[in-house]
Amino acid sequence: TGRVAIAPSMMCVDPLNFETALRRVEALGADMLHMDVMDGHFVPNAPMGLAVIESLKDRTHLPIDVHLMVENNDFFVSLMEGWGVHQISVHTEACSHLDRTLARIREIGAKAGAALNPSTPLSTLDFILERIDYVLLMTVNPGFAGQKMTPASLKKIADCHAYLEARGYGHLPIQVDGNVSFENIPAMVAAGADNLVAGTSSIFNSADSWPNNIKRTRDAIA
Ligand code: DX5
Ligand code: ZN
Repeated sequence: TGRVAIAPSMMCVDPLNFETALRRVEALGADMLHMDVMDGHFVPNAPMGLAVIESLKDRTHLPIDVHLMVENNDFFVSLMEGWGVHQISVHTEACSHLDRTLARIREIGAKAGAALNPSTPLSTLDFILERIDYVLLMTVNPGFAGQKMTPASLKKIADCHAYLEARGYGHLPIQVDGNVSFENIPAMVAAGADNLVAGTSSIFNSADSWPNNIKRTRDAIA
């Protein structure tokens, strides 16, 4: 696949400085805004409310990339109807009627993604390939920023790449989320990652300056 996309994870931003961070990631040429939605049930955390996503409509030129980590997925998808969201991923583990939920995402005009926890087998994609526009592989257990990559992550990215190719879906982008660090990016891209969720491990790394973090992220991809 082509150029590797960068999706800054906006839950890593201080809520009181959200717009400042937004304008910075716009200026750096980020490809989309990764917006995590958590409900305190599917994952034990609940940062950033949906109101932030709604308020972004007409306030940024960047595509909105929503990652739902919730139990009641259909409720959240329906709420976002009319917000102009570019893409929405749902966790396969959380959807009793996954096929229907994915179809619903496309019905509201968004691209549909299937998100997989680290322990979830790729075979969960077997019967929904026609319904999805991308795959999100979690490379940490979802819920919190600042974690270490789970051990099988690189093998899983490579396996997913081969899995999609073998079934004629090699064009589907693979998004990776969790500990996408300067150190991990080269191996993630080599394994087949097309879209990098950039959080505290790279763009929002507090140990270095903003411009340096951007440069190091780009250098790690190239
Ligand atoms: C997980 C979120 C973030 C992301 C943060 O769904 O998108 O928590 O992992 O990035 P890191 O792992 O670098 O802090
Ligand atoms: Zn995410």
